[in-house]
Amino acid sequence: MCGIIAYTGSRQAAPILLAGLRDLEYRGYDSAGVALLPESGGEPAVAKRRGKIAELDAAIGAKPLPPARTGIGHTRWATHGAPSDANAHPHTGSGSEVVVVHNGIVENYAALRAELSERGHAFESETDTETIAHLLEEALDSGSDLLAAMRETCGRLAGSQAIVALTSREPGVAVGARIGHAGAVVVGYGEGEMLLSSDLAALLPHTRDVAFLADRQLVRIDERGATYATLDGSAAEVEPRTVSLDPASAARGPYETYMLKEIMEQPAALADTIGGLMTVEPARLTLDDLAEARPWLERVERVLLVGMGTSLHAAMVGRWYFEQIARLPADIDNASEFRYREPVLGPETLVVSVSQSGETVDVLEAMNVARASGAPQITICNTPGSQTTRVADGAVHTYAGLERGVASSKTFTTSIAALFALALETARVRGRISDDDLARHVRDLAAMPEIVGRQLESFDAIAKAADRFRATEHILFLGRGPALPIALEGALKMKELSYVHAEGYAAGEMKHGPIALIDPKFPTVALAGQHALRSKIVSNIEQIRARDGEVLAIVTEGDDELIALANEALTVPPVPALLEPLAAIVPLQVLAYATADARGRDIDQPRNLAKTVTVE
Ligand code: AGP
Repeated sequence: MCGIIAYTGSRQAAPILLAGLRDLEYRGYDSAGVALLPESGGEPAVAKRRGKIAELDAAIGAKPLPPARTGIGHTRWATHGAPSDANAHPHTGSGSEVVVVHNGIVENYAALRAELSERGHAFESETDTETIAHLLEEALDSGSDLLAAMRETCGRLAGSQAIVALTSREPGVAVGARIGHAGAVVVGYGEGEMLLSSDLAALLPHTRDVAFLADRQLVRIDERGATYATLDGSAAEVEPRTVSLDPASAARGPYETYMLKEIMEQPAALADTIGGLMTVEPARLTLDDLAEARPWLERVERVLLVGMGTSLHAAMVGRWYFEQIARLPADIDNASEFRYREPVLGPETLVVSVSQSGETVDVLEAMNVARASGAPQITICNTPGSQTTRVADGAVHTYAGLERGVASSKTFTTSIAALFALALETARVRGRISDDDLARHVRDLAAMPEIVGRQLESFDAIAKAADRFRATEHILFLGRGPALPIALEGALKMKELSYVHAEGYAAGEMKHGPIALIDPKFPTVALAGQHALRSKIVSNIEQIRARDGEVLAIVTEGDDELIALANEALTVPPVPALLEPLAAIVPLQVLAYATADARGRDIDQPRNLAKTVTVE
């Protein structure tokens, strides 16, 4: 969940590291630090501060760092030890020759710390990371070079880790390691310079030529290039690839927040994703990266979709697509629950994982369980080269571009579009769809970017409707059928952006308990589009109104009955029922955004959250 950046080359490292940390701040933002190998030689210079990058900037402004062309940086999301200057990374050993930044959890750190203390090591922080610095120090002292020291150290660590280290004994060198699913280590190939990062976002301003470390791989960089090795000591072949992400598209531009930009980008992100997965005239699916997975589409007997958070909600929409379009039994599961349940599955089940980052540890662990069971796998992912795309037998890529707001928006809608395309492909391969129906579905999906764009033209009017939530601390979101995941996602957006308590519920469940909450101070947002269960939702709204509850309904344009029944209504254009989630989520994103904005929340970096969750 933390952000890591390392640089070595001909330029001054500090500005590159600090800019990189700003690009990574969405990964974690409770403290930050950098360490540099001074050009004049000597021990690494370290600056680190509790708080956001601005605090670190101020500290460096007050006490400038020496000129240096090699350095590492880190932005932290605390696991062991509260956010503080001492617990911020980088960490050093007993001496100061080695510095380390880390993402992950050293599960045996208490035992290691006790063992190292007995050998005379003194610790300055409460972090698990500091044990890594001390172990590296011992390995270096026993004569190993930094790469070998990293390999030896990794052999002592339990749990998943992403680590980058420097030592003053090897100026111009940085070494990185990846064990398990604590997050990516991406190698950036520049002109006469090399970088490492936890994330593409920090590399894109410098290069698009990147390589991802696989599990149990190490890398050593200097300004001339990279050499790779495995934890068992052999050399590894890792080829860089050129990613098509545009660094300019990652900029915030004129928008107040990344989240606002990303909400507004949804029509373009959808158009790019749909354009990458199909052609409309002639209607043809172009899911090119299914490779070994395509034959399985014909063979499997059921589909299981897994994900976390927003991606799980997209998976819930996807379940509808597999059942309705491909007529395949489909189910969803929270990846973190699935992995510990000893699930019963094998080659008859296609496991579809949804993860915008491709690095969420719960999803990766669920994929390991699926692999061990012999289940074929396809991942829906927005990050080319990420771990889910490596583990799966095939991938359906979304083309949303980088998403920097911690709360997901455009990756939700594009994941839904990708799931729609995969369900169509599954139906086609299994002979469950006629050419005419395929063409109709393709046309319907291709019309959605414009429809979402029309929705966003009403941004101000939707935001105004959020006024009714000005004083409320609880909101119920109700939906049925394909609108249930939208109710859940609307509630999640409200919670994480505004910190208002919001519950997403299946509308049919309301009478089985939640209706007890309804009073004039407990408003409901009801998803009441034109899908087959509309009449049932009308009854739910009647029941709430009869108990003096306020209802903000999301209804289809022209649905005068519901507009009259609700206290307030926001409309969505009429679209095919299966695609209604793409239109209906837009007002809920805007409502959450406006509620958070009115309360002065930190919209791009809500408290306690991190964009990519790489610890359990
Ligand atoms: C929601 O706004 C969050 N960003 C979060 O729920 C997210 O969807 C979840 O952590 C899964 O992330 P992934 O798509 O990168 O796997």
